[in-house]
Amino acid sequence: PDPGWSVEADAVVVGSGVAGLTAALELRSRVRRVLLVTKGVLSSGSTVWAQGGIAAALDPADSPAAHLRDTLLAGGGLCDPRAVETLVTEGPRRVRELVARGAVFDTGPDGVLSLTREGGHRADRIAHAGGDATGAEISRALVAQIEAVREDPGIEVIEHALVLDVLTGAPGPDGAPGPVAGVTLHVIGEGSRDGVGAALAPAVVLATGGIGQVYRSSTNPAQATGDGIAAALRAGALLGDLEFVQFHPTVLWLGAGVKGQLTLVSEAVRGEGALLLDTDGVRFMPDVHELAELAPRDVVAHAIVRRMAATGSDHVWLDARHLGGDFLRRRFPTIHERLAEHGIDPATDLVPVAPAQHYHSGGVVTDLDGRSSVRGLYAVGEVACTGVHGANRLASNSLLEGLVFAHRAARDVAGRVEGGFLPRVEPVVRPGDEALVAAASRARVQRVATDGPGVLRSAEGLRRALDALGRIPADAQARRDDGRPLGEPQLAEWETTNVHQVATVLSLAALAREESRGGHARADHPAPRDAWRVRVGVRAAVGGGV
Ligand code: SIN
Repeated sequence: PDPGWSVEADAVVVGSGVAGLTAALELRSRVRRVLLVTKGVLSSGSTVWAQGGIAAALDPADSPAAHLRDTLLAGGGLCDPRAVETLVTEGPRRVRELVARGAVFDTGPDGVLSLTREGGHRADRIAHAGGDATGAEISRALVAQIEAVREDPGIEVIEHALVLDVLTGAPGPDGAPGPVAGVTLHVIGEGSRDGVGAALAPAVVLATGGIGQVYRSSTNPAQATGDGIAAALRAGALLGDLEFVQFHPTVLWLGAGVKGQLTLVSEAVRGEGALLLDTDGVRFMPDVHELAELAPRDVVAHAIVRRMAATGSDHVWLDARHLGGDFLRRRFPTIHERLAEHGIDPATDLVPVAPAQHYHSGGVVTDLDGRSSVRGLYAVGEVACTGVHGANRLASNSLLEGLVFAHRAARDVAGRVEGGFLPRVEPVVRPGDEALVAAASRARVQRVATDGPGVLRSAEGLRRALDALGRIPADAQARRDDGRPLGEPQLAEWETTNVHQVATVLSLAALAREESRGGHARADHPAPRDAWRVRVGVRAAVGGGV
């Protein structure tokens, strides 16, 4: 569709989780005009759902070097050590700045930050807020800062704005994508910014979060449709580590038919001493890993899946009974309340849990300043592939990654805009919308992704998934008989298209990686292989295909 309105800015930030809000706040003090667009309202997105906390070496007995070691170990040999070093050394300062911005973390009676432990950490380094409402508190503090400056002419916020495509200028002679020119948006609003419009800027910072909607069930909210990854792919950016999907080991299991966003039971519950039992009541993690229930997340999730298969069950139990009702209510108020809604009291009942999709370690490949392979296009937070997670993200490193790399990206954008290194260009390439996938196909894509590039993969299953995904657009077009013109953008169709494209490139990357490592487990290649200590990159080919 042709944009019906346009707006100009020095930088457009897409998304309002911890990464997007941080980038917008940092940019606002450094460039003339920032546009912050978000698909829901400012406080929606994945960050508000984060329970456990934010990891940083804040305890005098801890150190960035120890945090680095744990992160590299969890990442299964695929982290970029320079990116991890940046994360762990800049992290503590960024968390202190967050406190200065008004985020209130839990402290002990002495006023010192309470730090807990989660899977893969060998030190207490997880700061938390409201017990198990860390993301909500971080979001509250950052949104309050944005609200306080919202009338400022230097920043404009557009809510209910889905990013459609990244606009780029003239491609290079080799067909490489031209520099960023802005984004197209579909806004459900009133007044001048309604319908399809263009936000023109020499810098676009994608902070669109994750891909949970690719799967039948996930801890992610409904907005997590991989919009940033798909838009970056269509714009010609390099994507990487797409096959590394993190399945959280302990998601409340309410029956095979329950789909969509599921309730997370934070790893911090295990950090405080809860145990995993199989449905025969046998504790199994001590035989699997020296850290038992607090082994890295991929190890625990895969052990649970194996145990479920061995016992013929579709869940295991989380046993927190010995922690006591008072403690559980006080330390985990959100989880306690959610469990109560289902008639479960963790002080007296075993909690049924099973792994579900939780986080995407891969995304838009960036350097240490959030720069993607397309000039002027940045990615921060879950949508990015900075290299800090490698094959498996260490628990509670994601909020930290959002903070650290959004800060760095904002500084880089500001410097390049001020220095005139990011010129404004006319958008000449605007990927078409003629191949939108019908919204009705979403459930089918999710089924295919869950069975193909799910927890346990195989070449056969992935080929089947790719074949099924390949047939979906054509089927959908054939069934599109509602008389609507093809050019008319429908939000659910754009989202389903994004989900479909992400499922496809993820399956391709998973098929290519013939080994098991971190969040990528192949039944037909069950061990890691040295030859695969490399990143699988995916890029749209000039003239079509990937
Ligand atoms: C959790 O609270 O278990 C989730 C933390 C994370 O995903 O890092």
